[in-house]
Amino acid sequence: MNHRTPIVAANWKMHTTVRTAAELCRALRESIDNVKSVEKVVCPPFPFLALAHQTLAGSSLKVGAQNVFWEEKGAFTGEVSPPMLADLCEYVIIGHSERRKYFGETDETVNRRLKAAMAKGLRPIFCIGETGDERQAGRTNEVLLRQVRGGLAGIEITSGFVVAYEPVWAIGTGVPATGEMANDAIGLIRREVASLYGGELAQATRIQYGGSVDGANIDEFMAEPEVDGALVGGASLKADVFTAIVEAAARPKGVG
Ligand code: PGA
Repeated sequence: MNHRTPIVAANWKMHTTVRTAAELCRALRESIDNVKSVEKVVCPPFPFLALAHQTLAGSSLKVGAQNVFWEEKGAFTGEVSPPMLADLCEYVIIGHSERRKYFGETDETVNRRLKAAMAKGLRPIFCIGETGDERQAGRTNEVLLRQVRGGLAGIEITSGFVVAYEPVWAIGTGVPATGEMANDAIGLIRREVASLYGGELAQATRIQYGGSVDGANIDEFMAEPEVDGALVGGASLKADVFTAIVEAAARPKGVG
């Protein structure tokens, strides 16, 4: 039995408009504000962060960004800095596999973003995960350890730090990992966090599963002792489905 409060985060990716973002925030405030024993985070696209911040103010829902640059300010057209985010959100997703795949993100740039975000008090949701080819080649553990060590190099984490284990082959495919696969990978990640920072911090650190989580499979993940919640993409765009996921994550482990 662990004492970690699960955390469920909605990664809206590049979806919603001003209107639908506002509607979704209002609907979620209505449906999950009162759900206890689970931390709830909504991560809209940058243009809607202020709107989410306002719409969710005074509720138990937290706001997160989907990325952040490492410089504080300057001639970096199109980028968004940690101090810009610090007044609007508490969390920031860093190192998502779509950033790694389409935007050249590496362990080194992930590391720079993590450092810069944490220096401004933002809580990272640090994403790692193997590709399908890497899993088939039996390289999952090696890849995860490389991503953890590379991403966290020179960083002192605190207990607010969140890791998301997201196997790339499971993201947006409708083919989730099994609960057991998620538990094994997250156990490995936790052991590595323990060897880097000590067992106490590792036991306090939330490590989510992400990849095709929906209302039908969330129980399988939450039943696993190592899984501390979910990072949800597609299924987070529907208020009723995301609500069901949050409610499932709030149930004590072992109560299915
Ligand atoms: P998905 O995305 O739930 O649509 O698979 C998860 C993620 O990319 O964080």
